[in-house]
Amino acid sequence: MLIKTGPSIASSEITSESVYLKRRQFMAGAAGVAGVAAFGQARAAQNPLKYRAASLDHSAYYTAEKLTPESDVTSYCNFYEFGNDKGDPLKNSGDFKAKPWSVTIDGDVAKPGTYNLEDILAPQALEERIYRLRCVEAWSMVVPWVGFSLADLLKRFEPSGSAKYVEFTTLEDKAQFPAQGSFSSGIDWPYREGLRLDEAMHPLTLLAVGLYGKELPAQNGAPLRLIVPWKYGFKSIKSIVRIRLTSKKPATTWNMLAADEYGFYANVNPQVSHPRWSQASERRLPSSLWSPNRIETKMFNGYQDEVADLYTGMNLRRNF
Ligand code: MTE
Repeated sequence: MLIKTGPSIASSEITSESVYLKRRQFMAGAAGVAGVAAFGQARAAQNPLKYRAASLDHSAYYTAEKLTPESDVTSYCNFYEFGNDKGDPLKNSGDFKAKPWSVTIDGDVAKPGTYNLEDILAPQALEERIYRLRCVEAWSMVVPWVGFSLADLLKRFEPSGSAKYVEFTTLEDKAQFPAQGSFSSGIDWPYREGLRLDEAMHPLTLLAVGLYGKELPAQNGAPLRLIVPWKYGFKSIKSIVRIRLTSKKPATTWNMLAADEYGFYANVNPQVSHPRWSQASERRLPSSLWSPNRIETKMFNGYQDEVADLYTGMNLRRNF
């Protein structure tokens, strides 16, 4: 997503298990484990993340498509705070501290405040959701996330009638994020994203704390990130420290950088090309020169039945 150059090609670095073991362990006891399928159980047994397996009774929370291997998910990343190349987030995040962590929830809510992540998570039952992630650069993955609905969290803090949007902000810390201290990124830090309130309250919108049954690695947005599976990946902001409810549409990082290339909505749409490349198809990772694994991109990334109603009557070409 560099402004001047096109998307870069995969560098396939492998993440060893020891990289994860070095990460701090996720606090235990967050979730109920009712209905754990063999799939979730096997992974949960290897680490303290307790979660309910992907629910089969809600088809959109689960896809049977082949999972992208964990080594690709954790080594081919976009996290510009750690550098511009796909391998930089893994390479440069070894010392990242995801604990202690607090999140400010403020703006148009009845209960504003800054809360320890443990307190935010305590009442939330974690569950696995297997979602497609489609990057605006035309590559995609299938990732087993562990998290909970953003709607459940927002309800606890009681949005007021004036709240129409939700703004999310990533940690700003030059000591931990090398690129925040350099002028070359061109990004006005901290990274910011936003959703309309109804998008934020949609049951598919997830706050993730883990992937592949383990706590999120730093390069994938530890300890708390957003996942909005029907939107381009840049909406899925990482390492969140603030969630602000507001009556005004928030300014968002990529839109501020290049408004003609990255819209506020950023719904996956194969019919609306990026000004510099088509969005009609995508490389599903793992992909290589010899085996590109190119597939057709689906409207709303395949979540049309669930989310199309949110945009009834809206010109999706203009509101890209
Ligand atoms: N969040 C922050 N704070 N900084 C970033 O650079 N990159 C976004 C999004 N969230 C980004 C971010 C982009 S462009 C994508 S495609 C996804 O994270 C990638 O998530 P992944 O690296 O876990 O696959």
